[in-house]
Amino acid sequence: MISKRTAEMTSFIVMDVLERANEMERAGVHIIHLEVGEPDFDTPTCVKDAACKALQDGHTHYTHSLGMYELRQAISEYYLAAYNVTIDPDQVIVTSGSSPAIFLVFAALLEKDDEVIVSDPHYACYPNFIKFVQGKPVLIPVYEEDGFQYRPELIKEKINPKTRAIFINSPSNPTGNLLSENRMKAIAALVSAPDSPQIVSDEIYHGLVYEGQEHSILEFTDRAFVLNGFSKLFAMTGLRLGYVIAPQPFIRPMQKLQQNFFISANAMVQKAGIAALKEAGEDVARMKDIYNERRRFMITRLKEIGFGITVEPTGAFYVFANAKHLSDDSYKLAFDILEKAHVGVAPGIDFGPNGEGYLRFSYANSLDNIKEGMNRLEKYLNGRT
Ligand SMILES: Cc1ncc(COP(=O)(O)O)c(C=O)c1O
Repeated sequence: MISKRTAEMTSFIVMDVLERANEMERAGVHIIHLEVGEPDFDTPTCVKDAACKALQDGHTHYTHSLGMYELRQAISEYYLAAYNVTIDPDQVIVTSGSSPAIFLVFAALLEKDDEVIVSDPHYACYPNFIKFVQGKPVLIPVYEEDGFQYRPELIKEKINPKTRAIFINSPSNPTGNLLSENRMKAIAALVSAPDSPQIVSDEIYHGLVYEGQEHSILEFTDRAFVLNGFSKLFAMTGLRLGYVIAPQPFIRPMQKLQQNFFISANAMVQKAGIAALKEAGEDVARMKDIYNERRRFMITRLKEIGFGITVEPTGAFYVFANAKHLSDDSYKLAFDILEKAHVGVAPGIDFGPNGEGYLRFSYANSLDNIKEGMNRLEKYLNGRT
């Protein structure tokens, strides 16, 4: 028998779209992939060189369960330089991607039926992490006209003695929008009492901000866990490297979880992570400029062909466009677009009930491919009328 909580886990629909797209590709169909949330860029050379060197130098063994001290120190220096916040390297736990870090946080934080406030729409996997450790995601709708930002007053209404955490993600997947400084401050103010919930801030898209300025939650409160990783900013998805910055009392309990379940992150990849933080600045700036050019193009074209974009996204590499005029079933619509237009897109329903009626377009693909994808989409839409 498969355990109930495994059986109840929802699939990651965007992966279903991708798998169907791959099947079609095997049958000879040319697909434009705008569904995947993965940088199309090659990993920066300095990072690959550092990984190769680490392998040659014999970094093929377990490391300290919290991660190599030099990497934790580099992460702490990075947060100081970027946000002027002081983090003790011993407050950092390095993990194999940020996904295991999400697991560590909720495993350490939640008792059965404890609640976590999550925006709706949200990154598809969040509720599954929470439910797997028997917690309860409490969804709070965020609205297109607000740029999909939380309304702090709605969060306040939902806080009760069972609330253990408020999840924030800015820039956000799937919306590509930033939470404003004022709203972040207002959310931080909700957790000022010692018995109030913690904030869990997923900062994985930090650095990929094209207008305005992102803020770390640690600028506004210490009652916070920060999740971050190398997958997006440094185009290192397959290398699997992430981390969590946690309040000191949680470190030892989370370290025990890490020791038991994962032992340590990959040693040579940790070396590559140090190179990413210290040497990849120019590569990141180059990728960011290219993303921005694609963002501008994609927003313009999506609007031209009739998709609704009320507040233009300014971060990550996504456009979350209103497609309610086309269908109220984004799952069916996404698969129809794939089958007929040969363009992969992510259905809004993957990101929560309030995401229904939207489609997420990723611009982690070349400008040429995005142009072709938009042309195919335009033709598909013209064919529907
Ligand atoms: C918001 C968000 N958090 C976390 C992750 C997980 O990333 P990784 O495990 O590669 O660090 C993703 C991946 O798409 C994401 O979009």
